[in-house]
Amino acid sequence: MKRYNIFNNIHKGLRACLYDCANAVQQSDFNDPAQAALVMGKLSELIEMFGKHATTEDEFILPIVMEYEPSVVTVFHDEHRKDEEISFRLRYLIHRFSGCREDGDRETAWEELAIAFIEFMVFNLNHMAKEEDILNRILWRYYPDEQLHQHTKKIVAAQEPRMIALTSRWMIRGLNNSEILSWYRSVKNHASDTAFQEMMALAEAELGRERWSQLQMHLCDGAMVA
Ligand SMILES: [Fe+2]
Repeated sequence: MKRYNIFNNIHKGLRACLYDCANAVQQSDFNDPAQAALVMGKLSELIEMFGKHATTEDEFILPIVMEYEPSVVTVFHDEHRKDEEISFRLRYLIHRFSGCREDGDRETAWEELAIAFIEFMVFNLNHMAKEEDILNRILWRYYPDEQLHQHTKKIVAAQEPRMIALTSRWMIRGLNNSEILSWYRSVKNHASDTAFQEMMALAEAELGRERWSQLQMHLCDGAMVA
């Protein structure tokens, strides 16, 4: 039986944001102030999302692993610390680039920033894959899916509305149709009507016409939503 992957939706959203940033870094002209500002904004948002996500894992995921596999938790706490160092350096380089006035300085700062971004991306892609392999195997051994679904609800309830809006936008960009449908069915069945309507507006804005009409069709089918 396929087990519930507690990381799936958020990790797909974070990867979608990473890939978008990767393309923006390699396509943008660092001498064009508007393009450079757009990239710096994207990177700042990315770093914030990854930082908040690591904090959420420290508060909600690692404690339930700790009960059974404390040594594994130590390894992931260390990875989160390393991630913080890499993020700190990337943030510093964004700040440095933004302060450059000469073309030559800007070019050097951009090159260093591009290298630091790749380090951030590679580290986090590996880190998330490790979590989905090692942590999921532990969670699946000790917790039934129903309990993991309840845990997801607790995690969502603890998030700030601004962060929910931001991560939802990236998740809808990163998930496939059946993942979006099951997420939206859960919102429809458990959240307020206002929250559900906001999510529908987000889907309409983000999905292409065909995917949007498929989602609407499935969600409006009462038998499938119940
Ligand atoms: Fe993590």
